Amino acid sequence: MVGNKEKAPKDVTHVENVRLSENGHSIVILDQSALPNRTEYLTLSTLKEFYDAIFTLKVRGAPCIGIFAGYAMAVLASHVAQEMAPKIKNPEEFSKADFESFFGRLSALGEELNSSRPTAVNLSYAIRRMLGAAQAAYASEGLKSPEELTERLRSEATAIHKEDIEMCRKIAEAGLTLIKDGDGILTHCNAGPLATSRYGTALGPILLGKERGLEFHVFADETRPLLQGARLTSYELSKAGVDVTLICDNMASIVMKSGKVQACFVGCDRVAANGDTANKIGTSGVAILAKHYGIPFYVLGPSSTIDMATKTGADIVIEERNPDEIKKKFYAEPMALPEVKCYNPAFDVTDHELITAIVTEKGVIRPPYEEAFRALFG
Ligand code: MRU
Repeated sequence: MVGNKEKAPKDVTHVENVRLSENGHSIVILDQSALPNRTEYLTLSTLKEFYDAIFTLKVRGAPCIGIFAGYAMAVLASHVAQEMAPKIKNPEEFSKADFESFFGRLSALGEELNSSRPTAVNLSYAIRRMLGAAQAAYASEGLKSPEELTERLRSEATAIHKEDIEMCRKIAEAGLTLIKDGDGILTHCNAGPLATSRYGTALGPILLGKERGLEFHVFADETRPLLQGARLTSYELSKAGVDVTLICDNMASIVMKSGKVQACFVGCDRVAANGDTANKIGTSGVAILAKHYGIPFYVLGPSSTIDMATKTGADIVIEERNPDEIKKKFYAEPMALPEVKCYNPAFDVTDHELITAIVTEKGVIRPPYEEAFRALFG
């Protein structure tokens, strides 16, 4: 892994959080775990480095993880191609058995990468899509060498990235129809440009609105325990010149009660077929408060986050993380005795009844969600 310090980017909607290196053999990421104090780019080349970057949240946010996984599969394909090169006697004769060996190795690497975090569907979606592209390239597109297959996978990863940029733009446009100039918006965790590409999802309407001269007042929950709201959301909004006020998670109620919030905007990691939505731990509490105070609660995310194979929120696997994130991380001294038990789920599920609408690139989807999803996505 190679590190490189740079100045903080000027325009947050053009941040290059993930990109393939020039030679296509590694991925350059903006290390989100170092923000907001340090702007550090890391060059990652091995499966272990890719796994670690996802696991330790250097790369985070569901769509960003998906984009990263696409590029990771392309880089891993280039490694497999290099491994195979000496074994292929005649490159003109790339046999079915050679393809099966290429594909088997790449699938195994993809499986390991997929085990880095369980909740966001974008990780498995991107890996599956890349493997599907490799199969299609061999079976129907006539690509018959590891190098050609690798090149094809690079363009598939780039397509995933480009689609995300396009989707974020459409989500931002659709979300903007739900709010008006001067509104107060509460958000939880980080679903901005760092977690996606360009505008972000939950922050998309706010950033797009800002470009068009609209002023919103955003309350950003700090988002315990890993502080994505404090470290990333307030950083992005403040750099974009948006009026942002950072609050601790347990202050959302008083702010809502004061009448300063007209809508809640959050992202999503996996939406079940019935609309139950997994997002950062604490999101369901925000939704319950919003219902109590009569404030609309909106989930914003690309349609690839809707997982029709997952029937309800009860079927979503919730990642549990190291207790030290609660007790020690970010503190000069531990804030609890070593023997104290901790429960550290990284996500929770918001019941679909609490969600006013789900905003995807296809527009604003209102309940009943299952019917609406089937009509839109089949
Ligand atoms: O653990 P994280 O930081 O990856 O969690 C991120 C979230 O929960 C985001 O809200 C979600 O991934 C949507 S990002 C557009």
